[in-house]
Amino acid sequence: MMTPSKGTRLRLPGLIDCHVHFREPGGEQKETMATGARSARAGGVFTVCDMPNTSPPTVTVKALEDKVRRAEQVKNCDIHFFFGATKQEHLGELRQLWTNEKMKNLKEKCAGLKIYMDHSTGDQGIEESIIADAFKLCAELSIPLIAHCEDPEINRRATEELKTKDITAHSLMRPPESEERAVTRAIELASQYGTRAHATHISSRDALTLIRTAKANNVNITCDVTPHHLFLTIEDYMKLGALAKMNPPLRSIRSTEHQSALWAAIVDGTIDCIASDHAPHTLAEKQTADPLKAPSGVPGVETMLPLLLTVAAGKWPGAKLRDSDFKLRIEDIVRLCFTNPNHIFSLGASSEERVSVDLSDEWIIRGKDLHSKCGWTPYEGWKVVGKITLLP
Ligand code: DOR
Ligand code: ZN
Repeated sequence: MMTPSKGTRLRLPGLIDCHVHFREPGGEQKETMATGARSARAGGVFTVCDMPNTSPPTVTVKALEDKVRRAEQVKNCDIHFFFGATKQEHLGELRQLWTNEKMKNLKEKCAGLKIYMDHSTGDQGIEESIIADAFKLCAELSIPLIAHCEDPEINRRATEELKTKDITAHSLMRPPESEERAVTRAIELASQYGTRAHATHISSRDALTLIRTAKANNVNITCDVTPHHLFLTIEDYMKLGALAKMNPPLRSIRSTEHQSALWAAIVDGTIDCIASDHAPHTLAEKQTADPLKAPSGVPGVETMLPLLLTVAAGKWPGAKLRDSDFKLRIEDIVRLCFTNPNHIFSLGASSEERVSVDLSDEWIIRGKDLHSKCGWTPYEGWKVVGKITLLP
């Protein structure tokens, strides 16, 4: 593998983003499969896994069928879908999908089951009483289970105790302990049943320690981290306000505890994938009078590779330069954004080199130049390296 140096062109496979929200059907004012795919391609991403919190949610075979049919019209991006479940009957639908020979083609486009251990955008929080059943079913049928790990009880209590109405309160309402509690639960259940569990968008130091230990104890658990948790912290609320509101929320930079832990876990292999959690909302939706009422989520599928390439080139992206000894190699990007997600979710993506990047090319991220329908980015004005072009 080539080492990045000035003037070097690198070739990479079309990357995989195993966590996106393309909003179709029901949220087409924010994004469609076509606009999401266009944004993905421009960012060197050829394969994505879309989440079930659409309207209607992807909790029935019928809803999945509809999404797969829509995705067939999108030629430039291979869209896979996670099934969702909030109630027992949804697990019944998933069982049917996995075991009915007639649904084989549909099943091929389903990357696994996604559960929300607490509510987030789209109100897909799973009923407490079926969490164990979900892990059990996925173990029985060898379905990958991806979990949004936040604990409803801890979040509820933290919200109740809160005095401030400032946007930074969002991070206090969903504290790191909430993620730790939910990750503990996911590890216990994966260990008990032997489920192929994947904790998505891990954002806090101690949750990573739990996953590292579980892996050492041979629990079948993997995880991913988002670019926004790697590059932003609560300090960014000052400039971004509700544009920096997402779940799980940004963490403190104090004693650099969380963000440094994420970068360390990339280097030591605890983190298996980087995924954008591309969650576009319109600017109008984000700029409500009460920022705490704005919907959670940030776009990111198109900016993921440029941000990571910048670190691989030995720089730190962003208007405010910061000293960092965070390390990433090009081969890490390929492992985290192609090889590992391809394997974990059996996506069958081709490793043919389809993306060319020129690391001598610096450019400025501008929302208006990006291809997502939402038209904004939390990285507005950031300087990055690595112009992306697609090979024929
Ligand atoms: O910030 C988030 N946005 N977190 C989620 O869990 C959902 C997502 C969305 O769909 O907007
Ligand atoms: Zn998400």
